[in-house]
Amino acid sequence: MTEIPEHLLKRSKAAKSGKSGDAPAEPEATSAPVAAETAAAPAAVPAADLPNLDPEPEPPKPVPAYVAAAQSRKRIPVWVLPIIAALPIWAFSFAGTMQQPDTEDELLVEAAALYGSCAGCHGGNGGGGVGYQLSGGEVLATFPEPIDMMAHVARGSVEILGEEYGAPRDDGTRVSGARGRGPMPSQLASLTQLELELVIYHERAILSEEDTSSAAYQEWIEHMREGIEAGDSAPIDLDLLLACANPDWTPGATGEGSPDPEVNPCPGPPVGEAGADQAAAG
Ligand code: HEC
Repeated sequence: MTEIPEHLLKRSKAAKSGKSGDAPAEPEATSAPVAAETAAAPAAVPAADLPNLDPEPEPPKPVPAYVAAAQSRKRIPVWVLPIIAALPIWAFSFAGTMQQPDTEDELLVEAAALYGSCAGCHGGNGGGGVGYQLSGGEVLATFPEPIDMMAHVARGSVEILGEEYGAPRDDGTRVSGARGRGPMPSQLASLTQLELELVIYHERAILSEEDTSSAAYQEWIEHMREGIEAGDSAPIDLDLLLACANPDWTPGATGEGSPDPEVNPCPGPPVGEAGADQAAAG
């Protein structure tokens, strides 16, 4: 006969006694309250005889399908959030590109950029500072023609200190150095001939709103455009400027015109055609 290990016998015994010992106790413990409840029940007044003071709570309305769909739908995915956050920035920069055609004209952009080197002394909008005001027609009053202005800006004021220059103005003819705020620096080493024309164009046409409608003026603008496209970097030829400028308004000018007009014509619109009314006034 095989022997059953002692601990297994003990477990079996405990299991048997647990079942048979606990079972009878349960009904005994619960039977009393159950009996009391059933005894009290007949004494209760039938519910139907009482007015219904508490209206039955309405059953919850069924959730409409579209609400359920919205509630179960996934929220905005996390990776979309930065995109949504960046939308205003994108909209702003997109609006910026829409406005670009206004400043796309390379001639205007280049001319305005070149004026940056003058703005420190003449004001961002040409309103004046250390140097004279150039805006509001002021520079046109001194120089009715672009060619005399080219010669003056290229040469600067030191070379002609104490000499009169420019057309007679309401407040008197200009005298070089008379402003008493230092010299107008020569631009011979700073600008090419094309750059000189561009910066002067900016000061006259943009800052002083010169009339640019004449055919001669438009020709000058076209000439500058072609120069930009060709990358023209020829230096300023002061002798040529003085040969083309008006001897009455520009010290040292001859007024003889270009010695070789075919190859090297006078820069700017032909004198007297830049703005007919200004030339007539001067
Ligand atoms: C360092 C300061 C300074 C800078 C930079 C400067 N200017 Fe001047 N500019 C002056 C001063 C000062 C005068 C007046 C000098 C005098 O008393 O004759 C003057 C005079 C002029 C005049 C004569 C105006 C008139 O009505 O008599 C013109 C045109 C002019 N400058 C254009 C320019 C241009 C174009 C540039 C840039 C390429 C420029 N200036 C850069 C200081 C400056």
